[in-house]
Amino acid sequence: MKAVLFDLDGVITDTAVYHYEAWKALGTKIGIDIDEEFNEQLKGVSRTDSLNLILEKGNKQNAYTEAEKTAMATEKNDLYKTLIEKMSPADLLPGIKNLLDELKAKDILIGLASASQNGPVILDKLQITNYFNEIVDPAKLKAGKPDPEIFVTGAQQLGVNVSECVGVEDAAAGVDSINAANMVSIGVGEAKNLGKATKVVPSTADLTAGLLEDVWSETIG
Ligand code: G6P
Ligand code: MG
Repeated sequence: MKAVLFDLDGVITDTAVYHYEAWKALGTKIGIDIDEEFNEQLKGVSRTDSLNLILEKGNKQNAYTEAEKTAMATEKNDLYKTLIEKMSPADLLPGIKNLLDELKAKDILIGLASASQNGPVILDKLQITNYFNEIVDPAKLKAGKPDPEIFVTGAQQLGVNVSECVGVEDAAAGVDSINAANMVSIGVGEAKNLGKATKVVPSTADLTAGLLEDVWSETIG
């Protein structure tokens, strides 16, 4: 295992709840109810694709112009940005700082493979930017998760083969993306959502460099 590619929201920090809150507020405004079960489909999915899924759910996919949709996505993002405003290193999920330190000590490369355009700002707020050897810019990708492009690009940026990487995700679309990239996948959360991962752990506290290396060598080595 030469590199680990991390998703951000729901893996490094619990911004998944803020995305949910912001989409729920927009949904309420346009008369579309977003519950936790539907929200699972939005995890890992880009801002534009998420809005399209929400409009489809409410049968309103043709109800708005492109300009109106852009305005709605901006409104969601503005609320999201106010929700993440006060984030600090205290918002790192359990075990993550320790894992980053372990990986650094072992000279294992670290990359960010998040669909979020707010990713770099959040890493700064968490004060962990300097752990990351590479950050994939989601704005430059042709296809979002579950397409493998983001994880394949991450491996390329780090200069390693996909078979030398482990990807960590909390979303079904993200696990599918890692698997389609032919990488070993670790899902953090419930097996009912992440059953396709090479290994599922219930909490980020379970993520250690040793666990990732063991899963990688049992699968690849
Ligand atoms: C992550 C989150 C999604 C979010 C996407 C885009 O993948 O899991 O919920 O929609 O990033 O985030 P952004 O911050 O660019 O709107
Ligand atoms: Mg996520």
